[in-house]
Amino acid sequence: MSEYDTLTLAVGDDRVALLTLNRPTALNALSSQMMREFTEALDEVTRADARVLVLTGAGRAFAAGADIAEMRDRTFGEMTDADHLSAWERLAALRIPTIGAVNGFALGGGCEIAMMCDLLFAGEGASFGQPEIALGIIPGIGGTQRLTRVVGKPQAMDLILTGRRIDADEAFRLGLVSRVVPDDEVLDSAMTAARQIAGFSSRAVRAAKECVLRADQTSLSEGLLFERRWFHSLFAFADQTEGMTAFLDKRPARFSDD
Ligand code: CAA
Repeated sequence: MSEYDTLTLAVGDDRVALLTLNRPTALNALSSQMMREFTEALDEVTRADARVLVLTGAGRAFAAGADIAEMRDRTFGEMTDADHLSAWERLAALRIPTIGAVNGFALGGGCEIAMMCDLLFAGEGASFGQPEIALGIIPGIGGTQRLTRVVGKPQAMDLILTGRRIDADEAFRLGLVSRVVPDDEVLDSAMTAARQIAGFSSRAVRAAKECVLRADQTSLSEGLLFERRWFHSLFAFADQTEGMTAFLDKRPARFSDD
């Protein structure tokens, strides 16, 4: 377990990393210090060779957005010179799968980092939104781009221009979250899925993630070719023989990453 001022990180023997945003009295508002510590924690996750990252928030929020108190007096020069908020994109660049476990508020930057996760589990009481418009700004950690890609222009415009909040069921209907579960089961459900994924062949998992992400960025024909090349490549590794042999032998597979 690593303790940062604004985060906790635990990497288990199951090679699942659990990263918890931990400023509950400020509803885990995303401060500069948290962003710095977040990137250090992601380096630690990589060094620990974790297979899956679960990201959650302590208390009654996943995160209620970027830290408004910290941002209020910032100037244009300071924001642009520091390329403020850009480091959160490190989450989207991770090669291992990431699972967001959302209890309570995921607003503004909180919604945006939730959307960077590969899978998103929400408690029934969770709420999502991009309320920046009411602060005289717009989303700044990818909300206008990722939300639009996920839910389409009419819904993204509605959420971003009105700033209205949606509950977990609506977020599920819009395709923003993968699963809605009872509030007290969110983290357990995310950890269970993470352990399941961590038990599969890491190369197959990486290939699956790369291929799905490619779908957003390329034409169908290029994407199909990319998938087929990865599919063929997995036959270079022992995990493919093991997975198929285990199925035919009616026993669990023992993947070795060979
Ligand atoms: N930044 C800084 N502090 C925040 C915060 C934020 N984004 N969100 C909540 N807090 C603080 C509150 O100021 C309050 O602190 P004090 O106890 O010291 O007064 C504490 O967290 C608890 O919050 P509330 O008393 O407001 O709790 P509530 O239950 O009445 O309301 C809420 C909860 C609806 C989430 C409300 O706190 C809220 O609207 N928060 C701001 C949401 C928001 O506008 N987010 C967007 C931020 S900008 C952004 O994220 C830009 C970007 O794209 C990167």
